[in-house]
Amino acid sequence: MRIVAAGVSGFIGTRLTTALTDAGHQVTRLTRSGPTGPGESHWDPDTGDLDSAALDGADAVINLCGVGVGDHRWSHDYKRLLWSSRINPTRLLAGECARLGMPVLINASGIDYYADRGPRIVTERGLPADTFLGRVCQDWEAATASAREAGVRVVNLRSGLVLGREGGLLPKMSLITRLFLGGRLGSGDQYWPWISATDEIRAIVHLLTGSVTGPVNLTGPYPVTNAEFTKELGRTLGRPTPWRIPGFALRIVLGQFAEAIIAGRRAIPVVLHDSGFQFEHPTLPDALAAEMARRAR
Ligand SMILES: NC(=O)c1ccc[n+]([C@@H]2O[C@H](COP(=O)([O-])OP(=O)(O)OC[C@H]3O[C@@H](n4cnc5c(N)ncnc54)[C@H](OP(=O)(O)O)[C@@H]3O)[C@@H](O)[C@H]2O)c1
Repeated sequence: MRIVAAGVSGFIGTRLTTALTDAGHQVTRLTRSGPTGPGESHWDPDTGDLDSAALDGADAVINLCGVGVGDHRWSHDYKRLLWSSRINPTRLLAGECARLGMPVLINASGIDYYADRGPRIVTERGLPADTFLGRVCQDWEAATASAREAGVRVVNLRSGLVLGREGGLLPKMSLITRLFLGGRLGSGDQYWPWISATDEIRAIVHLLTGSVTGPVNLTGPYPVTNAEFTKELGRTLGRPTPWRIPGFALRIVLGQFAEAIIAGRRAIPVVLHDSGFQFEHPTLPDALAAEMARRAR
């Protein structure tokens, strides 16, 4: 397939583009700072600057754009960037996909879409959250509407915590745990839906073909609570995790970002399962062991 990919200089995108090219697909990367080589095309999602020729004739567009949720304290300006770095690229690409009759648009979203339902199971039919990240996810998915209305097969990736040693939350939590500072966050009872980075990439590749459309939970089949996650990470790293950081302390240290850590969703991957996807790492111990042992390429 000929695939155009945006937001792929980061953690998930780097692994994804390697997997796609290894599988024989031809990938054109949209880059905000380049192009620096062949297979790249410059764009600016904030001004709408995009070379349509880069997308013309492609079989699919994959968009993973969005500044990191946990990379900075959520100041007023950073919250605007959390929103605009997701909505602007999505709106622009969805509009181009609609105009060009693109067969498929795979667009990032997040599990924060869902309201916290405690221990109740959350499927793709779950209710949206009335939180900052919940509203960002709703706007993010709504920004793909122009493509969907034009008949493009749009897939919204509601990813859980993507576990990989080179990016996302795992390296930060591993460092804390290795320093003997690991412990439950908040009550520890909140469910943290997770997926190994290996399965995240495999699932995105799986969704490129077939007929799945709409939201898809990219989460492992057995979500665990924060307390269970913390304990398992400690076991994998050979460290005790006796501490508990209460919610009020997290709010003082992390500001509003703490709301994303304290909230939980017991999300399960119904659509992925029904589409025949098989997880390589179905359980958290499998995922942590495999990702920790993985060598960077
Ligand atoms: N990692 C997780 O656990 C996780 C969980 C749920 C959802 N997600 C979502 O999956 C996507 C990829 O995650 P990731 O972990 O790979 O993130 P990442 O490493 O931070 O990469 C995000 C990408 O966003 C692009 N970007 C950065 N600032 C931007 C801006 N101002 N405007 C437009 N694009 C910008 C960058 O691409 P370029 O520099 O190439 O443009 C970068 O490669 C994100 O949308 C994220 O919200 C991730």
